[in-house]
Amino acid sequence: MQKVALYYFSGTGNSLFVAKELEKRIPNSVIIPIVSVINKEKIKTEAQVLGIIFPCHALTVPLVVKQFIKKIDIQSTKYIFAIATRYGTAFRGFETIEYLLRKKHKRYLNSRFILNMCNNEAPRSQKGYIVPTKEDINLIEQNTIRKIEKISKIILNGESFSEKDSSVLVKIASNPLSSYFVEKLIVILMNFSEHIGGVNYFYHDNKCNGCGICEKVCLSGKIQLNRNEPVWKKDTLCYMCYACVNICPQMSIQVKNIPGVRSYTVENGRYPHPYASINDIISQKNHEDNI
Ligand SMILES: Cc1cc2nc3c(=O)[nH]c(=O)nc-3n(C[C@H](O)[C@H](O)[C@H](O)COP(=O)(O)O)c2cc1C
Repeated sequence: MQKVALYYFSGTGNSLFVAKELEKRIPNSVIIPIVSVINKEKIKTEAQVLGIIFPCHALTVPLVVKQFIKKIDIQSTKYIFAIATRYGTAFRGFETIEYLLRKKHKRYLNSRFILNMCNNEAPRSQKGYIVPTKEDINLIEQNTIRKIEKISKIILNGESFSEKDSSVLVKIASNPLSSYFVEKLIVILMNFSEHIGGVNYFYHDNKCNGCGICEKVCLSGKIQLNRNEPVWKKDTLCYMCYACVNICPQMSIQVKNIPGVRSYTVENGRYPHPYASINDIISQKNHEDNI
């Protein structure tokens, strides 16, 4: 039976949930966190089927997922699929993945899917973000499961499938030039704002009690505790996963206002990340399996 490697990246558990549900339905499949392999010089898989499961970030693929696609050796792989979880804007990351696969590996995606789930960025981007209730989550979960059933059949049958994105924004977003600049801007804001404005994109307010959970869940290793307070290291690239913002038990981690973009994290609640415990997020960094 062919081996199936389900590589995932997940800040708050949505993409992890999808990976786990697929693992239940696809025989001989294994889930592997991208974060656990990303610092290796070479990533090799002997799987015949490769799945890449991740959240949509700023209309596209998270940086770490791009790094992963560039690094992985997929010579034994016959079938490749990608699944983006998002809350519902346009998503143009498949074009980016196709580009990287073509350029690095002379390959393409056999199938690609989008799943609409709860928004884990809402604490920043929307005023009056309503924390999803159990009922909201259950409803979204039922739809997600229904779609995962279909996705797993397509994968098991080795079929081709290309998700049609219905968003009206998709045309603007799929303009390579506009998305290139959006991406660059986000990276600068998230990682280098301290250099241009003397400030950091994230900060902690006085509710911080020094518990250190932010450092533990920080998937890129950018947060380090110093005298019981989080410090965002300048030399480490943030993966923008928002685990720190959503998981901090004191809701002490905030996003700064930046010119032209107001942040509402001080007023807003947080995404309750129903699919991942703190340990699930942390274990992405020290997982052992690799196929
Ligand atoms: C920095 C950031 C940017 C995001 N950008 C988008 C976006 O452009 N469109 C969208 O629909 N969702 C966006 N989201 C929401 C996530 O894609 C969505 O909640 C996802 O399911 C989270 O998955 P995870 O829990 O596996 O990290 C964004 C989330 C974050 C943290």
